[in-house]
Amino acid sequence: MNDQNILDKPKIHGAIQAKSTEIGFTMPSDLYIGSLLKTLISTKPNARILELGTGIGLSLSWMVDGMDRNSKLITVDNDPELTNIARDFFGHDPRVEIICIDGTEWINSYQGDNFDLIFADAWPGKYSEIEKTLSLLKIGGIYVIDDMLSQPNWPTRHQQKVYDLIEYLENRTDLNLTKMNWSTGIIIATKKS
Ligand SMILES: C[S@@+](CC[C@H](N)C(=O)[O-])C[C@H]1O[C@@H](n2cnc3c(N)ncnc32)[C@H](O)[C@@H]1O
Repeated sequence: MNDQNILDKPKIHGAIQAKSTEIGFTMPSDLYIGSLLKTLISTKPNARILELGTGIGLSLSWMVDGMDRNSKLITVDNDPELTNIARDFFGHDPRVEIICIDGTEWINSYQGDNFDLIFADAWPGKYSEIEKTLSLLKIGGIYVIDDMLSQPNWPTRHQQKVYDLIEYLENRTDLNLTKMNWSTGIIIATKKS
């Protein structure tokens, strides 16, 4: 599988990619996680979706493409430059709420309804506040994380963080888990109780 095999890129994806290159954004989500998110989200009509780590909006473009017109998505990032760019691309879409705030603060103060799918692509929601984040998932809901496959540029202690997170998820009795050698290494967990 290579990038050429991903045929259904969102129309807006090329423009976001160009912006990413222009500002030198170093953490873009790839096409493979995007395609998977779109596919998963399209199984959830009238969905409530959460993204932690808006970034430049590449994964967001895929998620929005998978949503039906009654679905809603909240995306959170603590970098105002990035959330402003995301607003330029998605601010016209009433289904999408872009919030510039520290993820930890947002997770711990959120009081709304639970989510059908959470894509946790920032430290909070993945390496911190994991319990609270998973409590925001509906039964039957899907929790998705990437960047699980070891990278040469990881700081030395990061690998242990990844192992600890995987062990934590595996030890939870309320989740079904699949670890995928796809994209940067993905884990999909579904909430069963
Ligand atoms: C891997 S990038 C997300 C990439 C994004 N999914 C995309 O496709 O462009 C991680 C993002 O998390 C954000 N981030 C880092 N620490 C955060 C925090 N404490 N709270 C909220 N966002 C944070 C960064 O600003 C960065 O945009």
